[in-house]
Amino acid sequence: MDNLLIHGGQTLAGQLRVSGAKNAALPILAATLLTSEKTTVRNLPHLHDITTMVELLGSLGADLMVDEKLAIEVDAGTVNVLRAPYELVKTMRASILVLGPLLARFGHVEVSFPGGCAIGSRPVDLHLKGLEAMGAEIQIEEGYIKARRKGRLQGADITLETVTVGGTENLLMAATLAEGKTIIRNAAREPEVVDLAQCLCAMGAKISGIGSSTLEIEGVPSLHGADYTVMPDRIEAGTYLVAVAATGGRLRLEGAVPHHLDIVLEKLREASASVTIGDDWIELDMEGRRPKAVTITTAPYPGFPTDMQAQFTALNTVAVGVGRVTETVFENRLIQTHEMNRMGAQISIEGNMAMIVGQEKLKGAPVMASDLRASASLVIAGLVAEGQTRVDRIYHIDRGYECIEEKLQSLGADIRRQPG
Ligand code: UD1
Repeated sequence: MDNLLIHGGQTLAGQLRVSGAKNAALPILAATLLTSEKTTVRNLPHLHDITTMVELLGSLGADLMVDEKLAIEVDAGTVNVLRAPYELVKTMRASILVLGPLLARFGHVEVSFPGGCAIGSRPVDLHLKGLEAMGAEIQIEEGYIKARRKGRLQGADITLETVTVGGTENLLMAATLAEGKTIIRNAAREPEVVDLAQCLCAMGAKISGIGSSTLEIEGVPSLHGADYTVMPDRIEAGTYLVAVAATGGRLRLEGAVPHHLDIVLEKLREASASVTIGDDWIELDMEGRRPKAVTITTAPYPGFPTDMQAQFTALNTVAVGVGRVTETVFENRLIQTHEMNRMGAQISIEGNMAMIVGQEKLKGAPVMASDLRASASLVIAGLVAEGQTRVDRIYHIDRGYECIEEKLQSLGADIRRQPG
């Protein structure tokens, strides 16, 4: 298994272009299954999770054409297998996103039940309850979710008990082809949900309330093809901003949507970064300062993103002062802190809160990545540590960060991939 070798201590500086958003690209690729016409999706990031989703579409019978500019044309007119197998779903939980589209278009589908993962049990009960409210019959058999519906799904008034990004996306996609009106209340407002909704509208869906917590969908009998460009990745952007801030450096990010990062930029300013923004760029400059500790609590958008929590924990390990990080979205997402303590960080955990006493320096060590964002935070810790850090199990990183070592090298980091 590959690992990343980092010699920390450099102050990072330079310019980067933000890639397409993984978490928008995945549901948008699933949405191409809603139509028998061809759909082109542009600005896909070059990531394992995207390859897995493309593989899944192919295994369902879709015809795919990929060009070298990371655009893909999906012809879902040829789909003839209505089953998402365990082998693919186990490698990527987001495979569950094909459930709503396939059920809505074909009236039946089987999707392997996604298991838990390192950051918690991650149930999909709200996806299933919502589809049942739309008239689907759902059974769990032999590890598979088997859903069927005679005729079209029926519009329904659904209130989600918990804000769920994937649940909102699955129900939104299903509702576009349902008979009548569907209302999704307490819907997730994440920019990736908005991007999906806009893609669906480009395919002929009728959705109002986009970006709010109440989505209203007037079902249509069919959708048509579209040509859609995926939004920039706000989590990738935020990760590089934090990495550079932790080293006291400066960064210009091109092709970003600053407004998607409002709360993240606010916390970076609190950490003493000077941050300026334009229409599609962000500049951060620490002017060589050590960051100040910040306190954060994760929450659904527009709150502080759980996907940025681990990176800010890493920043706090070398900050001036004491930071508190509270994780409210996932039950087990502070695991990376144990690895950071092995690098000389001073983090104590109480329930879902981490208290981080900032140190002047960390010390390099071999560490192990346990999930995608935790891996990114260990890379940040390695960048600010003295000596060598080896981050193992970096297949997690490759699921979500395009060319991370090249991008960091271009900012002056001493980081390289070692084939394992
Ligand atoms: C998505 C993102 C992930 C991000 C998360 C929260 C993708 C591919 N992944 O994951 O990067 O960390 O949003 O912003 O977009 N829940 C239930 N029942 C359900 C569904 C969810 O109880 O049926 C709970 C989960 O256990 C969790 C919370 O709701 O505690 C939020 O999860 P959810 O928003 O669904 O996360 P994902 O869509 O899986």
